[in-house]
Amino acid sequence: MPVDSPPPTLLIVDDDEAILTLVGRFAERAGFCVRTCAGGWEAIERLARERADVAVVDLRMPDVGGLDVLRAIREADPDCQVILMSGAGTIESAVEAVKLGAVDFLTKPFDFARLKALLGHVKEDASRRRRVLEAERKVARDLEFCGMIGRGPAMQELFGLIRRLAPHVRTALISGETGVGKELVARALYQLGPRRGRRFVTINCASIAESLFESELFGHVRGAFTGAVDSKPGLFETADGGTIVLDEVGEIPLAMQAKLLRVLESGEVQRVGAVEPRRVDVHVLAATNRDLRAEARAGRFRLDLFYRLGVVELWVPPLRERREDIPYLTAAFVRDAGERLGKRLAGPTPAAERQLVAAPWEGNVRELRNVIERACLLADGDFITEREIQSGAAPSTGTGTRGFDARGPAPEDGPAGDDHSLSSLEREHILTVLAQSGGNKMTAARRLGLSRRALYRRLERYGIRP
Ligand SMILES: Nc1ncnc2c1ncn2[C@@H]1O[C@H](COP(=O)(O)OP(=O)(O)OP(=O)(O)O)[C@@H](O)[C@H]1O
Ligand SMILES: [Mg+2]
Repeated sequence: MPVDSPPPTLLIVDDDEAILTLVGRFAERAGFCVRTCAGGWEAIERLARERADVAVVDLRMPDVGGLDVLRAIREADPDCQVILMSGAGTIESAVEAVKLGAVDFLTKPFDFARLKALLGHVKEDASRRRRVLEAERKVARDLEFCGMIGRGPAMQELFGLIRRLAPHVRTALISGETGVGKELVARALYQLGPRRGRRFVTINCASIAESLFESELFGHVRGAFTGAVDSKPGLFETADGGTIVLDEVGEIPLAMQAKLLRVLESGEVQRVGAVEPRRVDVHVLAATNRDLRAEARAGRFRLDLFYRLGVVELWVPPLRERREDIPYLTAAFVRDAGERLGKRLAGPTPAAERQLVAAPWEGNVRELRNVIERACLLADGDFITEREIQSGAAPSTGTGTRGFDARGPAPEDGPAGDDHSLSSLEREHILTVLAQSGGNKMTAARRLGLSRRALYRRLERYGIRP
């Protein structure tokens, strides 16, 4: 255990001042950071705000009894260990307490040796957990493959495939749900391929206005259209000799798909308005979160282009199909967030980790990363608890909590509180939906019933910088 990890916190709840002092002194000497509460209500309120590693709770208190405090703690923070104490111990209460998950039941005047042993266990649990997390972090570091972490068979297989294919691919299609890591796969193919160190140009096809596509990709000559004051090379020419990533390739308009196919087949681009084509030598990695085969069947994507791109197809599985990776991804994200925030963070408590492993993760690794970053920001000890995970996972309007990717600048004018103009409501709503989609624009657009492009226009209009 690192020497400077913070002392565990202990909360004593009793209406008897003398017990608070007595147990408090004892726990302090045992190395705990002690807090006291003079009643059940106060304890419940307090535990909603701050966490404790262990709570020592009196059974009989005038306002709220110890068993209710125990129930509240179990609900709010399953990792907090609870020890109940009672003046006149009844067997029934003791049985009930243990059923509810208390670690022990002490009868006053109680045996301090026993309390000492219990507190020793609590400390040992925390330090064991720190060791587990440290080990996970180390494994995550050792597992890293071109910036990707994946321990389960699905990702290991993908890494093997990338390793074998990278020296040879000229064109590949990388598919998978949003946030699974397609961009990282593209980078890995590039880094392990023969063109490493040459140009690597990424273009998000969803963010280019339809009318500008051709000139963006293939360039134009002076006077080709109004506004074309100078000749300009397109991205294919810029990437000559290197690699181009066509992100969200499914968003390319049909007419452009035909032109793109021609470029791939012929190895020549023609600037808009130019007479002569130019030769380019570019490796093309296309990424999509759509099912292009289905898109082709629906007439939205050219089948011939799909076959041309999909000579090599790499599919990245969704996070819910490789949950075994979650603890290691979490370890890496906690490490990164800790470094950035300048915080010493060990990682999630066991209950928080269980929650992470079980979550649906519609936004995949990106969503997980956002949730972890937010939880790290909120964490006040070195452990990340369920509560912090939850406030990262379920952002809502009104409370001021929002997903990481979706924070835009404050509205420029008008008090935020009573600005009910339609556009400000729309802006708010977009921010909310973006946050709920883990910052993913594709998902947000779908939920909002907008096209990708329409969402981009609104983001720009409202000054939302994802
Ligand atoms: N295996 C992984 N290990 C570590 N980080 C990962 C992994 N997969 C994804 N990430 C991280 O998750 C985020 C999303 O990844 P990426 O941008 O590659 O997803 P994507 O599939 O391209 O998503 P989209 O379809 O929305 O473009 C990035 O911050 C990336 O670094
Ligand atoms: Mg991407």
